[in-house]
Amino acid sequence: MERPEPELIRQSWRAVSRSPLEHGTVLFSRLFDLEPDLLPLFQYNCHQFSSPEGCLSSPEFLDHIRKVMLVIDAAVTNVEDLSSLEEYLASLGRKHRAVGVKLSSFSTVGESLLYMLEKCLGPAFTPATRAAWSQLYRAVVQAMSRGWDDQ
Ligand code: HEM
Repeated sequence: MERPEPELIRQSWRAVSRSPLEHGTVLFSRLFDLEPDLLPLFQYNCHQFSSPEGCLSSPEFLDHIRKVMLVIDAAVTNVEDLSSLEEYLASLGRKHRAVGVKLSSFSTVGESLLYMLEKCLGPAFTPATRAAWSQLYRAVVQAMSRGWDDQ
């Protein structure tokens, strides 16, 4: 697998990580537009959200957004040696499998991530930067996908 270009990743993440909640909200709004069936997977204290807006304004879900952005932040920090995150990402995969997430939904998450980066970076989101992020995200999902393997 091709390795993501570390400098392109770090530089582009700087702008996003200044306001993680704002950008994470763009990511998840897009995700619910593309795959509305993911909404019922988020339930806190047995409460089911009737709309993406309700979900996107709940404190527990905002915490999930923060958690997602922290995982991406860790991947950016370790972009040159993602193997150090392998065990953690496999266990994160297992947790998502347990709450009913299908591995295929992570492709939609990837699309939503690229969408958010494009919105945040504008023209600075060059084809080379997009390629670097696709590679990084693919590596993260590959590590998480071990959580779906029968072991
Ligand atoms: C298909 C999209 C996703 C769905 C439906 C989903 C759903 C969930 C649910 C229901 C939980 C448990 C409740 C909670 O902690 O809020 C959870 C936990 C978590 N999710 Fe996600 N998630 C998704 C994508 C992601 C992604 C892309 C990441 C990071 C790369 C991520 C990182 C986390 C973390 C760090 C936790 C906490 C795990 C723990 O408690 O140890 N999630 N997710």
